Amino acid sequence: MPELQIVRTVADLRAVVAQYRRSGAGIGLVPTMGALHDGHLTLVRSAKLDNARVIATIFVNPKQFGPTEDLARYPRDEAADAAMLKELGTDLLFAPDLEEMYPEGFATSVSVGALTQSLEGLSRPGFFTGVATVVTKLLLQALPDRAYFGEKDFQQLQVVRRMVRDLNLPVGIVAVPTIREADGLAMSSRNRYLSPAQRKMAGALPQIMHETVAELRNGQIASPIIAKAKGRLHQAGFDRVDYLELCDETSLQPIPVARAPSRLLVAAYVGGTRLIDNWPVV
Ligand code: PAJ
Repeated sequence: MPELQIVRTVADLRAVVAQYRRSGAGIGLVPTMGALHDGHLTLVRSAKLDNARVIATIFVNPKQFGPTEDLARYPRDEAADAAMLKELGTDLLFAPDLEEMYPEGFATSVSVGALTQSLEGLSRPGFFTGVATVVTKLLLQALPDRAYFGEKDFQQLQVVRRMVRDLNLPVGIVAVPTIREADGLAMSSRNRYLSPAQRKMAGALPQIMHETVAELRNGQIASPIIAKAKGRLHQAGFDRVDYLELCDETSLQPIPVARAPSRLLVAAYVGGTRLIDNWPVV
């Protein structure tokens, strides 16, 4: 297995990318915040299928964490992450520090309009501006042919697609379906915050989503079905449901009855841990 090259500066990243370009290789980029699991690794595997060279990035981006969120305790284990990336044949890991990404005096941000005003945007003000800013930087730093994002963070995926179109960024965005644990829970770096009892309970989320999606597919009015599902989440032990909404997949605006293409999106707390998920409806 070839070595995984690790670079920490934009200058070094660009020098390696220039080499790849000279050899004519297609380049895939997989942006992450580390604490890698099989969801992330599936993005890397997809990138390997489409591109001769694959670059993964690890940067825990402070601009996308709110003041009361988990920035300080967000899991970090670069050595374990690098070992997994190497195993998959990733060519390069770009892991910049804070100063490299946001040097003294950094003052620019990228904010995407309507799509960021609903769902996650309501519960996490500033989150999508943080994501859009860092993703724009990563795309411009590496200038890949394609960049890979998970459907797990469906609104983020749509925001990135919108931004790439609006700013004419010369990169193809590739979506990868959500990878789940055996009980259906979407894999997430935040799942490691769950105690064994909470982890067991969290399995009710995909179960309830699955059943709710089946009911919504019958073409009935969504609101009573969603109210019932929220009740079931509370009964199952979820402490708070930030949202459970049936939305148009493209605009992410709520819709009263399922119609193609639509998605059911949820954010709910188990103890202090916020879990998100989404399922296609039609
Ligand atoms: P992070 O949460 O580390 O996720 C990195 C990528 O992995 C995202 O595109 C996310 O959707 C994808 N991913 C996470 N869990 C997944 C799963 N179970 N199945 C499929 N894909 C999954 O999302 C971020 O980081 C950041 O916001 C980032 C885009 C890196 C910007 O900082």
